Amino acid sequence: MPHARLAVLVSGRGSNLEALHAACGSGRLAAEIALVASNRPDALALTRARAAGIATLACDSRGTGDRAAWDMAFMAAVGAARPDWIVLAGFMRRLDGAAIAPWAGRMLNIHPSLLPRHPGLDTHRRALEAGDAEHGASVHFVTAELDGGPVLAQARVPVLPDDTPERLAARLLPLEHRLLVASLGALLSGRVRLHGDRVWVDGHAAVRPLQLSADGNLS
Ligand code: GRF
Repeated sequence: MPHARLAVLVSGRGSNLEALHAACGSGRLAAEIALVASNRPDALALTRARAAGIATLACDSRGTGDRAAWDMAFMAAVGAARPDWIVLAGFMRRLDGAAIAPWAGRMLNIHPSLLPRHPGLDTHRRALEAGDAEHGASVHFVTAELDGGPVLAQARVPVLPDDTPERLAARLLPLEHRLLVASLGALLSGRVRLHGDRVWVDGHAAVRPLQLSADGNLS
């Protein structure tokens, strides 16, 4: 199978980026990271990408007046790297619908909650405050709606009595990494795809998101 080209969009620390990079390096994903692009020039993820010898693009989104124009220019620059798939891994900006329209079904985001619960920020604290018995992460196709696109797969963790937002986040993060790699693997193999606004798995419209199992597979 020829290697797929990935563009990874980041704004922060880049641990999901590292998980993807490791999976590409080990052959677990038949892919290469062609570009790491950020709206935050100071993102640690960019430093990590440069250290790994990956091409980077930094376009500061702060202080830019015309949001839609910035989004369009940014996505054009990302597209110039000719990615097959675009992965948002801690990318903290909602992109305008017109800018992402050409990438429908080829753009994924990982979000640290069991969507549709807790879209947006501060998900670990909000899950605790809501008294949720369970928390988790979701990989979904990107649409113009914030954390609102069709959910492909999820990983779940129980909420423990002495949890803090920090403890919950730390327990979830390794599962996020496995979830993102497994989700991308399912896309690259053709097992999963977006058809209209529905996720299809193994040739059928999915009735619920795939779930990450203890062995790291999606079922
Ligand atoms: C992760 O929790 C991800 O789910 C969320 O932002 C965080 C990014 O972490 N969207 P990292 O930059 O990949 O370490």
